[in-house]
Amino acid sequence: MKENVTIYEVGPRDGLQNEKKLIATQDKINLVDAITSCGFAKIEVTSFVSPKWVPQMSDAAEVLEGIDRKGLVTYAALTPNIEGFDRALSAQATEVAIFAAATEGFSQANINCSIEDSLARFAPVLKAAREQDIPVRGCVSCVTDCPYDGAVDPTSVVRIAKALTNMGCYEISLADTIGSGTPDQVAKMLDAVLNELPADRLAGHFHDTNGRALENIVVSLEKGLRVFDSSVGGLGGCPYAPGATGNVATEAVVDMIGNMGYETGLDLKKLSQVVTFAQSLLQKNG
Ligand code: HMG
Ligand code: MG
Repeated sequence: MKENVTIYEVGPRDGLQNEKKLIATQDKINLVDAITSCGFAKIEVTSFVSPKWVPQMSDAAEVLEGIDRKGLVTYAALTPNIEGFDRALSAQATEVAIFAAATEGFSQANINCSIEDSLARFAPVLKAAREQDIPVRGCVSCVTDCPYDGAVDPTSVVRIAKALTNMGCYEISLADTIGSGTPDQVAKMLDAVLNELPADRLAGHFHDTNGRALENIVVSLEKGLRVFDSSVGGLGGCPYAPGATGNVATEAVVDMIGNMGYETGLDLKKLSQVVTFAQSLLQKNG
């Protein structure tokens, strides 16, 4: 029996949020539907953030309401505060993600508050989600390096990952936001986090700026992680992480993981059609 690895497709959110020109809502809906058809169990569709901060995500409700939902697929959205959660709930997101940072610099730049204040903002989200039976995922940005504060001490990552877990997140996605982490750094960071949290509560979220994301996934697999975030065609970047490029490409992860003997349940042929479609959307967008 092959061991399963879950690929959490974040392209419609992390992949598109950085696009300067607005992409048509119907194109975003078509992208999510095409992704659904490949067999993903988890799709991060959009984010309910301030439209002034990320205009590209201002049609979050329309996208979630327009997609063709299949079976048990999770259609998730980022929610930085209770206002975002209420909007996500109305649009019938089936999972939400709260996002914190391991550094003060990134927390201020990305969500305009300190780490402590962000945790306080997340508390009502977790309470409301519990009442509505909505699973909450936690993201920790800058797990190895920060574009504002430099190298990151793994103890800061451990502190935030534990805090989010204790608040009720079922899984923590550990993000190399600027894609500069080396396998060595990732291994040290994971060792520190794994001292406190089990591997089955963790996921890897690697941007690929320096082309080392696949190696970082291999290290994470060796440490026991079995969930990875990725983006079709390697789209994306974060508007508040200057110079960072997209997530590791889903098709490259699926290919590598398959060759390593794991099962992802994903169809590479269908996936390559989605990659072409995703790229055509961006070309069309100029
Ligand atoms: P703020 O300006 O401090 O918020 O932004 P505020 O509470 O003072 O509200 C100001 C205005 O925003 C008000 O409107 C609110 O209603 C509105 P006004 O009265 O001025 O008209 N507002 C909202 N509107 C819609 N939805 C909401 C919402 N909240 C407030 N949820 C805030 C604070 C967190 C909202 C802002 O900083 C923000 O939206 N930040 C998000 C930035 C973002 O989306 N970054 C990218 C996603 S994270 C990422 O990519 C990293 C990740 O991939 C992992 C990794 O790679 O590291 C996950
Ligand atoms: Mg990201």
